[in-house]
This record gives sequence, C-alpha cells and structure tokens, in this order.
Amino acid sequence: MKILRDPAEVRAWRRALPPERRVAMVPTMGFLHEGHLSLLREARRRVPVGEGEVVLTIFVNPTQFGPSEDLDRYPRDEEGDLAKARECGVDLAFCPLDPHAMYPSRSTWVDVEGLSAGLCGSSRPGHFRGVCTIVSKLWNLVRPDLALFGEKDYQQLAIIRRMHADLMLDGQVVGMPIVREPDGLAMSSRNANLDADARRDALALSRWLHTVRARFETGERRVDALLAGASEALAPGRPDYMEIVDAEDLRPIEVIERPALCALAVFVSGVRLIDNAVLRP
Ligand code: PAF
Repeated sequence: MKILRDPAEVRAWRRALPPERRVAMVPTMGFLHEGHLSLLREARRRVPVGEGEVVLTIFVNPTQFGPSEDLDRYPRDEEGDLAKARECGVDLAFCPLDPHAMYPSRSTWVDVEGLSAGLCGSSRPGHFRGVCTIVSKLWNLVRPDLALFGEKDYQQLAIIRRMHADLMLDGQVVGMPIVREPDGLAMSSRNANLDADARRDALALSRWLHTVRARFETGERRVDALLAGASEALAPGRPDYMEIVDAEDLRPIEVIERPALCALAVFVSGVRLIDNAVLRP
C-alpha cells in the first residue's frame, strides 16, 4: 500500500494511472471502525485487484469543525488505520499531514444551499461548507470513478450527491448502510470518547429509533405522535435535535406520505452522536 502526504503527489499518481484502471475513493477522518471498513471492502469488491485502485483518504478536516467543537478531541490513530486499510486491500492511502497543504488559502468554498439548512446544518453552521469543500478538493485530486459514503451521515450524503450533480463531477456517489454494534449503537469514531456509562446511555438513540419505527409500522403517520416522549426516552442524553423530514429534500413535514427520515443528534456526556432511520410508507 502506497502512502502519500502531499496533494501534488496524488495528482501525479492519478495522472500516471492507465486510463482503463478504475478508482474507488473512501474519504474519512480516520480512526477507522467497522463502518469505514465496510466502505473499503465494498470499494474493493466494486474495483477488484487487477482492475483498479482503492484510495482511502484520512484527513481530520478543520473547516468542518466549529470554534467550540471537538477538533482537538477528535480521536486519531494513523498507524492502526493504515494496518486496517492494508487488510481491506487499499492501494493508496492519502494522509495529508499539514492542513495548509489542503487549504493553501481559506478563501474558496463549496456551499450547498437548502439541504444544508436544517438538522446538523442549523446547529453546526459552516459544517457542510467545510465537508463539501474538502470532498470537492479530494474529488479533484483523486478523480474517482466512484466514492463511497455512509448513510449514518444521511444529510452529508444527500448534500454530497447534490454537490456532485450540481458541479457536474465525474464518477458516482455510492451510499452504504449504517453499520451497528451488536447492541444497536451506530458505529462512529466519536464512540471512542464515551466512557462505560456514556456508552450505555448512548444506546438510547437506536432504541428510540426502534420505538419510532414500531409506531410507524402500526400505522402512525403523524410526526408529533411519532416523536412524542423523545426527550424522556433519550435522557440523560441532551437532544440537539430530533426531527422527521422528507427523505429527499430534508424539509420538515407534519404527516408522512412519502419516504421520510427520522434523524437525531444527541449529546451524551458531552459527545455529540447522530443516528437516523428511513421510514417508507
Ligand atoms: O464523513 C466524514 O468522515 C467526513 O465528513 C468526510 C466526508 C471525510 C469529509 O471530511
């Protein structure tokens, strides 16, 4: 597995690839867990050895963290990540060391309006601008035939799909299902910051989604009724938001008549966790 640190080296590597070689990219911020590994394995399945390259990017992107957010606390383990990447058959890991290498200046941004407004976008202003800017830089350098993202970050995936279409980027965006621990907790690098009590409290998120789904499956379609009792069910976690929105345009709805997204973000012992479920009538 090749490890590159400098954007110019990635550009040169890409230029030197024979045109028939396909490229699958998995952008991450590292501290890889089973969710990331499922993306890497799917990338390898879709671009088998001999037909092309699987590229993992590891970069804790500073511009998607707000001033009061957990950039410094974000867990990091490059050595462990690279060992896991090797096991998944990654060909190239691009791990810029210096944030300035990815941001020669901080004056050019990619911002997707509308879809970025609600959910995580309202409590993390500028977050998706940072995500879209770094993903478009990586897209330009790696020029993937496909790039894979997890559905745990449902809003992120929807925004990246829109950006990809609007900027007429080449290749394809692939979404992959949420990977959960056996007890239901959605896999996330931030889970590493939970102590044993917080880890137990964090189970309330997936349990709550299960309750909402059960209500939905008995025929309830009113959003108020589906979400009733959420704060109590999520305690002692402190909800940032919990909403049911249209699964496509992410606008709030009152009654579910077409596929909807139940999404929530909850602070558990100071760690912000997100989870979601799609409800299909
Ligand atoms: O989902 C993530 O880990 C990040 O938001 C991403 C897409 C790698 C951009 O930094």
